[in-house]
Amino acid sequence: MRKGIILAGGNGTRLAPLTFSVSKQLMSVYDKPMIYYPITTLMMAGIKEFLLITNKEHLNSFKNLLKDGSQWGVNFQYAIQEKPNGIAEAIIIGEEFINNSPIALILGDNLFHGTGLIETLIDANDQDTGGTIFAYQVRDPYRYGVVEFNDKKEALSIEEKPKKPKSFYAVTGLYFYDKTANKRAKAIIPSRRGELEITALNNSYLQEKKLRVKTFGRGMTWLDTGTFDSLHEASSYIKTIEHRQGLKVGCPEEIAWRRGWIDEKELKDLAKPLNKSGYGSYLTSLIKYKRNINRFGIN
Ligand code: DAU
Repeated sequence: MRKGIILAGGNGTRLAPLTFSVSKQLMSVYDKPMIYYPITTLMMAGIKEFLLITNKEHLNSFKNLLKDGSQWGVNFQYAIQEKPNGIAEAIIIGEEFINNSPIALILGDNLFHGTGLIETLIDANDQDTGGTIFAYQVRDPYRYGVVEFNDKKEALSIEEKPKKPKSFYAVTGLYFYDKTANKRAKAIIPSRRGELEITALNNSYLQEKKLRVKTFGRGMTWLDTGTFDSLHEASSYIKTIEHRQGLKVGCPEEIAWRRGWIDEKELKDLAKPLNKSGYGSYLTSLIKYKRNINRFGIN
């Protein structure tokens, strides 16, 4: 079974002073903490065992929020990253938790939503060997890992924050790896900015032709939420969709229930303390209208 790692460390300096006492990944994205979005992305892939990595300062806040995960029919373990030494370090920190399993790694500030997402995630989870990453067209690729493709849409190279990007395709913060990831991560040499780059890990797979680079189309939304503007935009986006559809994006209670990881009674119990905010009545309404919607939330 694939295990999930959620990386929620870093200093959040681009969101100061918001982040002076609260972790960036616990900021609100409209009606829920940011971390709910990446967690539910991995839950939709079918992953139930998680390691959440954060810094010492914020560990207890995450534990208070997510507990041991049993309330959602999943399991959360926790680990500390002493310093933001790079995204690939998460795989080294998580060695014991990973215990030779395949993994999915997601950044705690990445938000995915859109048509075909669940099928894409399930497909990536089904792959036993190699790695799967996702590329998404952006206006400002120089801020990200950038994929160069040939005419056949095969990935040729990945560069981290290139000054002259070879395409508009950014690598998103969601990575599926086979069980060789840990060995590969340990072999990475720190970059010029002193980090164990996730791009180096992706290139290690790519060089052996063991990396699938899937592109997300225009019907998908990928947002990162690390600045005032992007945080606000993400909140507006979620508000717009949720108001229009009457369905929540990134609701762990709902996904756990649709997947059969918690039953109706457990969902009702989870709803009780959430009633005043309206979040709870959403959960109970799911039970009432369940016949109209399949377990993936698609009509
Ligand atoms: O968002 C996708 C991009 O994420 C990729 O396109 C890049 O290839 C990848 O390197 C990364 O870009 P950044 O270097 O800009 O990521 P940033 O430093 O902003 O960190 C992303 C999140 O991960 C952020 O919420 C903080 C957290 N983080 C980051 C590092 C380096 C940690 O928890 N620990 C770390 O050591």
